[in-house]
Amino acid sequence: MRGRIKPRCSVAGGQSHARRHIANHKMRVLLASLAVLAAFTTAESDSKARIVCYFSNWAVYRPGIGSYGIDDIPVDLCTHIIYSFIGVTENTHEVLVIDPELDVEKGGFRNFTSLRNKHPNVKFMVAVGGWAEGGAKYSRMVAQKSSRMAFVRSVVDFLNKYEFDGLDLDWEYPGAADRGGSFSDKDKFLFFVQELRRAFIRAGKGWELTAAVPLANFRLMEGYHVPDLCEELDAIHVMSYDLRGNWAGFADVHSPLYKRPHDQWAYEKLNVNDGLNLWEEKGCPSNKLVVGVPFYGRSFTLSAGNNNYGLGTYINKEAGGGNPAPYTNATGFWAYYEICMDVDKPETEWTKKWDDHGMCPYAYKGTQWVGYEDPRSVEIKMKWIKQKGYLGAMTWAIDMDDFQGVCGEKNPLSKLLHKYMSDYIVPPPRTGNTTPTPEWARPPSTTSDPSEGAPIPTTAKPTTQQASSVTTRPTTQASTTTQLDSEPPNPVNDVEQPPAENEVDSPEICSSSEDYVADKRRCDKYWRCVNGEGMQFTCQSGTVFNTMLNVCDWPDNVDRPECK
Ligand SMILES: *[C@@H]1O[C@H](CO)[C@@H](O)[C@H](O)[C@H]1NC(C)=O
Ligand SMILES: *[C@@H]1O[C@H](CO)[C@@H](O)[C@H](O)[C@H]1NC(C)=O
Repeated sequence: MRGRIKPRCSVAGGQSHARRHIANHKMRVLLASLAVLAAFTTAESDSKARIVCYFSNWAVYRPGIGSYGIDDIPVDLCTHIIYSFIGVTENTHEVLVIDPELDVEKGGFRNFTSLRNKHPNVKFMVAVGGWAEGGAKYSRMVAQKSSRMAFVRSVVDFLNKYEFDGLDLDWEYPGAADRGGSFSDKDKFLFFVQELRRAFIRAGKGWELTAAVPLANFRLMEGYHVPDLCEELDAIHVMSYDLRGNWAGFADVHSPLYKRPHDQWAYEKLNVNDGLNLWEEKGCPSNKLVVGVPFYGRSFTLSAGNNNYGLGTYINKEAGGGNPAPYTNATGFWAYYEICMDVDKPETEWTKKWDDHGMCPYAYKGTQWVGYEDPRSVEIKMKWIKQKGYLGAMTWAIDMDDFQGVCGEKNPLSKLLHKYMSDYIVPPPRTGNTTPTPEWARPPSTTSDPSEGAPIPTTAKPTTQQASSVTTRPTTQASTTTQLDSEPPNPVNDVEQPPAENEVDSPEICSSSEDYVADKRRCDKYWRCVNGEGMQFTCQSGTVFNTMLNVCDWPDNVDRPECK
């Protein structure tokens, strides 16, 4: 701290040796007791790792041995099980039950939370959102305090009624213009989370509040106040999968642990390790971060006559992915059990390979190519989670493990999560890994107002250990990199698609010889072309791209009538 008052010379200079000795002794006693205190709080902040299992309610509709109901959940392999999904209503901003026949009439919600009777230590949560829900309704719901409170009240009633243990927020994604989001979502999403948290504290049932989040930098920039969200939420479920897919235009594994030699541009940091680091750098304590592991593969149909089966090879993008598999019946998306029963069977025609840097398996046969996770890659990720000190492992989704044991023992992947996480004590967060949020990027603060209900004591907040920042790197961000969602997966014919996009360049834009190209649709966006590949940038709020000077500029200075 700077403004320390200089002691008066006479006192400081005249201090006797004896007095200094006493002072030192006192200091030592103080330090010793601080150390005891530190050890105590450290021990207290250590916590058991989480094994978060998402359950898709629609998995029950898969045919034959693919049908997966509540009775199939291996409850004791998880610490948290999340029923997916509920939604939000269009006009009243309340909880929307998406499949009332299954969830309510046939007792889906109640059967699910009744599992608590036999498994009292497991948390039974519900997720709101998901890919198929879109983003526009959520953006509208958070826009006003009154509509946020309508949802908050509705969700409190809902959790009470069906006896859930908490809520998981799966809005994909706040601030995502390509998903119906808007610029103000970032602040409003935080307010929404803060209001939910206060309502949960008032409810007094110990409900948890968590969120499933992306890891691409541009997504975090546009929608997530990271340090503040991590303080409010009990856990952050990082969706560290779907980092590649048919939409990217080449065949690849979708949850690589590290950067590979062929990763370029926006893909360089689009891997599990860098994505989790990014959350930490932006101010999320490591002991709040839960790492996602997909129990499914992303599949591709290769270009006809393509004999190169390596990572990043050419695909027939028009095909939309690999052919539908028998149970999940979706293009480009295969459950782990659908893969293992074909790829690992005796005398298989599949060739199985390993990504040495990404630490994931892939396999191919004819024109079909799939990148996925198997016991070996899952084991590596579990060891890495412990080494990094994260809060645990999450899976999308429990219903795509080999739950029937068609390839060997039942639930092999879930068992690995349990094997590594069940005896793992999460260490206190590392410090010093955080880049401080610049003043201009901080959220406006809000407090509870009487419309929410009774005031709550401030001590009732969830226990958090904010990683304190020691490095002060200057963060100048005149423009923020963004990549174009070239083609998100089609959510209409594929309910299996959870989150997905993470995209990159648009070759057409860079067909001319220009280095900088204004975006045709948005005045505040422009493209930087290097070697024919475009990367999109966004101008600072209130400015637009000046095509004469190739900089962001005030609208009045710019000769673009459409941008005034
Ligand atoms: C809920 O449990 C009841 C009684 O076992 C059963 O009849 C019903 O099919 C179950 N519903 C669902 C959706 O699992
Ligand atoms: C698979 O999906 C297609 C199109 O979405 C549908 O027409 C077909 O009936 C489905 N097949 C099965 C076995 O469910």
